[in-house]
Amino acid sequence: MSDRNAGSLSFIAFLSIKSLLGLLSIALMVFILSWFLLLGTTGRSRFIDHNLLPHSKHYKNYIPNAPKHNAPFMNHEKQETLRVFMYELPSEFHFEILSWKPEGNAVWPDLRVKVPEYPGGLNLQHSVAYWLTLDLLASEFSENGGRNAVRVRNSSEADVIFVPFFSSVCFNRFSRTNPHQKTNKNKDLQQKLVKYLTVQPEWRRSGGIDHLIVAHHPNSLLDARMQLWPAMFILSDFGRYPPTIANIDKDVIAPYKHIIGSYVNDSSGFDSRPILLFFQGAIYRKDGGFIRQEIFYLLKKEKDVHFAFGSVQKQGVISATKGMQLSKFCLNIAGDTPSSNRLFDAIASHCVPVIISDEIELPFEDILDYSEFCVFVRTSDALKDEFLINFIRSIGRDEWTRKWAKLKEVEHFFEYQYPSKKGDAVQMIWRAVSKKVPIIKRKLHAARRFSRFDQPARKSFPLPRNFTS
Ligand SMILES: *[C@@H]1O[C@H](CO)[C@@H](O)[C@H](O)[C@H]1NC(C)=O
Ligand SMILES: *[C@@H]1O[C@H](CO)[C@@H](O)[C@H](O)[C@H]1NC(C)=O
Repeated sequence: MSDRNAGSLSFIAFLSIKSLLGLLSIALMVFILSWFLLLGTTGRSRFIDHNLLPHSKHYKNYIPNAPKHNAPFMNHEKQETLRVFMYELPSEFHFEILSWKPEGNAVWPDLRVKVPEYPGGLNLQHSVAYWLTLDLLASEFSENGGRNAVRVRNSSEADVIFVPFFSSVCFNRFSRTNPHQKTNKNKDLQQKLVKYLTVQPEWRRSGGIDHLIVAHHPNSLLDARMQLWPAMFILSDFGRYPPTIANIDKDVIAPYKHIIGSYVNDSSGFDSRPILLFFQGAIYRKDGGFIRQEIFYLLKKEKDVHFAFGSVQKQGVISATKGMQLSKFCLNIAGDTPSSNRLFDAIASHCVPVIISDEIELPFEDILDYSEFCVFVRTSDALKDEFLINFIRSIGRDEWTRKWAKLKEVEHFFEYQYPSKKGDAVQMIWRAVSKKVPIIKRKLHAARRFSRFDQPARKSFPLPRNFTS
């Protein structure tokens, strides 16, 4: 009897605790709701970035004072457009390097009249800054539907600050030093850029953290990178950067522009591509490139493996195009850098890439699963006798055809063009930059914690705290 009483008593106690908890959580919800309503009615409060709140547009629609023109439902597919401020950098830093002549005081070409051309050949593989700049300029007069970034003229309203320096073609064209000179134009322009940037109010405001600098050629920006490293870099890989100067958290990896033309109307198949494995490139001895030579010796006796030496220069483009379009697999072996344009030539040719490069970073890997259209082999495995050739021969028609079909599906992500189109390389890079904006904001806000005690705008650039090398 007493046991049963005790039981029902504790049951009542349990009930009242449960209802108390319920009441508490209701109160909490009311509190949170009113907090959001309060935020909404005071308009866009300056210290909270509503663009970063989830469904921020959604909330606005339930707030009495919200602007009427808002659509009742938010399109969840639609991504926020990146707002980019671009420095009016003198044209010697960009289009003049392409031999464009400015008219009067004009800094920029009028794209509606004529689009300046980029030097051809191998220069083109690193032309990323050119395509991004063209897209920003075009965002002011043309609506292309798939735009992920627009140019804004007020830097306070920008998410990122773009530095339109064509560093790769600057390296390509101006890095030769004349015997009677101490320095060369490539070095001079970089020093000039550092001088220019460090006095800009935008740079001083952020210390460069929200700046975007393209340095796609592994040797471009070689001098200035050590001073401009707080900025976000757009790179081909991290091979020649210390990890504190550039890394995957801070920076964006962009594809090379393929040198080999796209394979339009490709109706080839497993059986109509007679070459099993194709490689075109130089056999380097330096740096990580020694494995090219090892792999060449392992494969040279195989009849259906084709090795073509030398880089893809003018006359080589035609033979490389044919070779890749007639091959089932295309080898990408690390050279003196982890990445190369070969991967993107293979994708454009729908030749399934076989990647042997342990340190390679791949563009847009947050949304692309490369294992669906590439084959990866660890260097240590590739150097084992017969391993590579047996592995490639074990991939049958069905698996190869799935990868080939996938290549045709993803190739547009690697296409640089003007005008840029929805989902091409240009838009994908803007998208990748957008994904870093919350990280930039966090860094900027954290840097402001003790700003009232700090000296205004430091002039010198400290190296990263754990910098070694
Ligand atoms: C730039 O934007 C900021 C913030 O929106 C605003 O306060 C300022 O007045 C704008 N400046 C100009 C010149 O329009
Ligand atoms: C590809 O096919 C389309 C439609 O059949 C045709 O209009 C186009 O000219 C072809 N392009 C090439 C380069 O063969």
